[in-house]
Amino acid sequence: MDSFEFNKIAAAVLITALLFIGIKELGNFVYKVDKPKKSAYKVEGIVENTSKVKKETKIEVQLTSIKPLLASASIEAGGKVFKKCAACHSVNKGGVNKIGPALWGVVNRKIGAVEGFKYSTAMATYGKNWSFEELNGFLHKPMKYMKGTKMGFIGLKKDKDRANVIAYMNSKSDAPVPLK
Ligand code: HEC
Repeated sequence: MDSFEFNKIAAAVLITALLFIGIKELGNFVYKVDKPKKSAYKVEGIVENTSKVKKETKIEVQLTSIKPLLASASIEAGGKVFKKCAACHSVNKGGVNKIGPALWGVVNRKIGAVEGFKYSTAMATYGKNWSFEELNGFLHKPMKYMKGTKMGFIGLKKDKDRANVIAYMNSKSDAPVPLK
């Protein structure tokens, strides 16, 4: 190959590369769409990016057992609390997986075990059952209680809300556990 021919090939390669970059840049320019800073559809309590949850500096107060509160819990009030969950979960018999897994019969069920739902590794490998106390801890601060969960929900601060919603979920089962 003489040097003239080599130069021709080199030029052709260079031009192709430039064209390619040019088209890509043009594409970026034409298709650049600014993402809105906030999503238009907001549901209270939902954390949009679970990896960006601020580290809390407060000293954590140990949760006490939910058992005494369950004895006087209201299934009806729990149904109202569940409205916060219903954007992501169905709880009725035969309900399907939504953003979160179907919750019919969740009390005492194996954690992370609904067929066909793609759990985070954290939940899929947790290896326990949803006892009342596990639910209590998880629903208090999901992302803190189970590091790596993809349930983007801030949690239920009030003990009473957790007791009521746990009683409500317990009632949504073929075999509800007696609460008293
Ligand atoms: C923004 C959507 C969202 C909201 C709101 C939400 N969850 Fe979830 N939930 C999820 C996702 C996603 C998972 C699966 C988490 C994982 O794989 O780490 C989950 C998992 C669960 C599980 C474990 C189920 C199983 O099969 O092991 C329970 C129990 C639960 N959620 C209860 C609740 C309750 C009660 C509320 C309301 C107080 C609630 N969630 C609110 C998305 C949500």
